[in-house]
Amino acid sequence: MPSIPSYDLSDKDFLLFSRLVYEKCGIHLHEGKKELVRSRLSKRLRELELPGFGPYLRLLAGPDAEDELVRMLDAISTNLTSFFREKRHFDFLESEALAGIRERMSKEGRQDLQVWSAGCSSGEEPYSLAICLSEALGVSSRVQIKILATDLSSRMLEAAQSAIYPHARVAGLSQDLVRRYFLKGKGRMQGRVRLRPEIRNLVTFRRFNLMEPFHSSLHFDVIFCRNVMIYFDKPTQEMLVGKFHKALRPGGYLFIGHSESLMGIEHGFRYVQPTIYLKN
Ligand SMILES: C[S@@+](CC[C@H](N)C(=O)[O-])C[C@H]1O[C@@H](n2cnc3c(N)ncnc32)[C@H](O)[C@@H]1O
Repeated sequence: MPSIPSYDLSDKDFLLFSRLVYEKCGIHLHEGKKELVRSRLSKRLRELELPGFGPYLRLLAGPDAEDELVRMLDAISTNLTSFFREKRHFDFLESEALAGIRERMSKEGRQDLQVWSAGCSSGEEPYSLAICLSEALGVSSRVQIKILATDLSSRMLEAAQSAIYPHARVAGLSQDLVRRYFLKGKGRMQGRVRLRPEIRNLVTFRRFNLMEPFHSSLHFDVIFCRNVMIYFDKPTQEMLVGKFHKALRPGGYLFIGHSESLMGIEHGFRYVQPTIYLKN
């Protein structure tokens, strides 16, 4: 059997990688991430049958690098997520935030409730939002739920769009919720579940790099950007939070991850409770 090639990543090449990743997606790879980068990208080098990291870097710097950059970022980013992760956020949305948002919507004569899951990974977050809001609004509501879900990773977006998950991913949810919002796989799909079309249809997936400028026509009532900024340094976080502030309507909420905070960065939000912020 041929041996699997192992690749060395020199400090110089690691530095070049970190610069490229920071420039392209704002992710700050410090020295401690070197082994992670080496092991995750070695697989890609083997697939491309490249002799080392030097030629791979040249490939990434080349004129047709866009697709490979996405694959490279796919390989090194962390996509961990789950349904109703940080349940407190969904409870707050349903029991506290929604009433104010609906009041503003009716004052403005609007029926579409616009939500953005920024850094949606494999889709559990936007689908949890769709379920939470459907539950809160009820079937007879005239409010149209519109959830935009974006991520940098095409691989994750593909998984998200399929809306198919191993049954273990919903094991922590109530049986009643699973029965009402998921279809159980049969035959070839045994052991898997799929979101019902009524929920799938509330979510639109797009590939979007948060480092890019936001379109000025974007206006949201709620933005979830959780466990994404953790990888960014302070100036990048500040720049991104400023863009979220602009993209939210007055009275809109920004939710960030449990280990993230806006402490130490300048922003125009009112602090509501840990990891929840309001645009006045
Ligand atoms: C750990 S997951 C968080 C998923 C979900 N928000 C949650 O909290 O469960 C982080 C996601 O952010 C995405 N990401 C990282 N940098 C990004 C960028 N610059 N633009 C868009 N998405 C990015 C990654 O691809 C990954 O899917």
